[in-house]
Amino acid sequence: MITDYRVMASDKVRVEVFRRGIEAVVKPGDVVVDIGCGLGTYAVFACRAGARKVYAVERSDVIIAARQVAKASGCGGRIEFVHGDALSVELPEKADLAITEDFSVVFADPDTERLVSSVRRRLLRKNGRFVPESAAVCAAPVTCRNVYEKLDRLGASADKVCGVDFSATREMAMNSIARAWFRPSQLMGAPKRVHGVEFAAGTPFEFDATLRFRAPKTALVHGVAVWFDALLAPRIRLSNAPGAPRTLWGQGFLPLTRPMRAKKGAAVAVALAARRSRDRDRLWWQWEVTAGGVRADGTTFRSFPMSATSLEAGSRSHRPGLSRDGEITECALRMLGSGCTILEVARGLRRQFPGTFGSVREALSRAGEAGRKFGNLKL
Ligand SMILES: C[S@@+](CC[C@H](N)C(=O)[O-])C[C@H]1O[C@@H](n2cnc3c(N)ncnc32)[C@H](O)[C@@H]1O
Repeated sequence: MITDYRVMASDKVRVEVFRRGIEAVVKPGDVVVDIGCGLGTYAVFACRAGARKVYAVERSDVIIAARQVAKASGCGGRIEFVHGDALSVELPEKADLAITEDFSVVFADPDTERLVSSVRRRLLRKNGRFVPESAAVCAAPVTCRNVYEKLDRLGASADKVCGVDFSATREMAMNSIARAWFRPSQLMGAPKRVHGVEFAAGTPFEFDATLRFRAPKTALVHGVAVWFDALLAPRIRLSNAPGAPRTLWGQGFLPLTRPMRAKKGAAVAVALAARRSRDRDRLWWQWEVTAGGVRADGTTFRSFPMSATSLEAGSRSHRPGLSRDGEITECALRMLGSGCTILEVARGLRRQFPGTFGSVREALSRAGEAGRKFGNLKL
């Protein structure tokens, strides 16, 4: 929704730091690619910083508004808006610099990793640069009764509502990463850097670290707070750390199934890892906290019900074939590829899959969806 983009634009901390970073890094004559340009804010900054050409790549139709934003900001001429997926678009020339910021709250996310790696290989010239150039994942144990109770919102009623027993879902909720805004005083130890990623070097996002903290006060440890610290340009940083100027990101909260007490001065050990799934498509976060001889852990692997079949689906030796839905999509794509109109595709789908679509209108919506998603659209 456009309001989401306006909310992002209103995050002055984020926009202002990116403006300074882009101005510091763009050299006159540079070719810049803004990956996932949204409303094109950073493309405008790059253009004003002296880029010869800016390619603003965006897969969503928000790119139409971005074009208007750039024109109204006096940068229409040098920005070329490219509608498509940055994982597969082709640009007429390689870029000197790529700007990217689609980071999750805990940063280490497989989609970001895939995007950065693909942009480096396909869209950047050799020795091309990134804004940010690097980012570090940071963490500390945290005491946060309110956030914890909000996440465990059915805990007070023993997971029962009007006689319905939801207790089977509690463990999943307490293995999920939540978003929170912590104060530095809630951290149960001085923050530690867990893992650093250099974008141009292609550092893997996965990590496995053991961190040792000393509790600054006696309190319950409810979980681990995680954030990132990104270096946009020399001495220009953007961080969503507790106590840093507030951004929309906030911090990630990794809860413990049971809070544990730590005495002032006691050692608190945190084992924290982001491990690649077997199909390499996901990163599973794992955390384990030990304090006062008690241990508790969590993993995003347990954050949602998952069948053995869906786990197996992406593995190398698996031959899943096509579901009915897959057959419909395949058929629609074949017709689209041979130049059929959406109406012809809809009629073809009704013929090929009798009984599936109650009306041409229903089939039209399916054909239109395939056209929008996979068609060669020039916005
Ligand atoms: C956090 S928003 C960026 C907002 C933008 N910097 C701005 O200031 O308006 C991330 C954007 O990246 C886009 N995006 C994410 N992955 C993409 C991909 N693989 N290809 C193209 N766009 C992508 C999303 O559609 C979204 O608009």
